Amino acid sequence: MRDVVVDAPAALGEVFAERCERELTQAIEERGSASLVVTGGSAAEALLPRLVNVALEWSRVHVFWSDERAVPPDDRESNYRLARTLWLDPAQVPASSVHRMPGEATDLVAAAVAHAEEIRSICGDPPRFDVLFLGVGPDGHVASLFPGHPLLREKHELVAAVEDSPKPPPRRLTLTLPALLGARLLVVAAFGAAKAAVMASALADRASSLPVAQVLRRARRALVLLDPAAAGQ
Ligand code: 6PG
Repeated sequence: MRDVVVDAPAALGEVFAERCERELTQAIEERGSASLVVTGGSAAEALLPRLVNVALEWSRVHVFWSDERAVPPDDRESNYRLARTLWLDPAQVPASSVHRMPGEATDLVAAAVAHAEEIRSICGDPPRFDVLFLGVGPDGHVASLFPGHPLLREKHELVAAVEDSPKPPPRRLTLTLPALLGARLLVVAAFGAAKAAVMASALADRASSLPVAQVLRRARRALVLLDPAAAGQ
């Protein structure tokens, strides 16, 4: 099942917050806790502030990231820092709920292994994230999985180190497809004309190999949020 909503960013924010609240509340009712994965980038900047006022017991929601840049958690480039500033701190999400990727690690491969273990211990193997929120790059990447990259063929590891990201900074940690594909609800958000071509390809071209197309095609349920410019093609 796939819903596509095209609207102004403010209205998309409402849809995003309402859907997160509903899905995570249902997960808490059914299983006692919930899991939410968030992105960095412009989609996070636009939508994470909308989570501040949702009625959720944040102590019961495990928060993870789709990817992280290899920087310390207080760096301006940190995806964790972005979320902390826009949402985690203002919403008083307790530290026990926050499972950030250790971007400051010198050994990113070891960090990926340790973080995968943390995910498995909370969400199972393969993990079933309740809500997986992804942005998309103008080249069609999601998380730090870039078009044509060998990591797209990963079948087992849940988290991987990236040393050659075409989007700076080059060194990153990312969830892999085995981690992304089990989500109960995938939310993809894209804003601006630079995303129009890849979103058209992902939604209309069944043969597209773009990372965003792969995750959308294989998602159990998906919600796609586009502003009019991103829906332009
Ligand atoms: C990051 C993000 C990344 C992001 C896309 C889209 O670390 O850069 O987590 O996966 O979602 O690159 O970013 P923009 O919306 O800023 O283009």
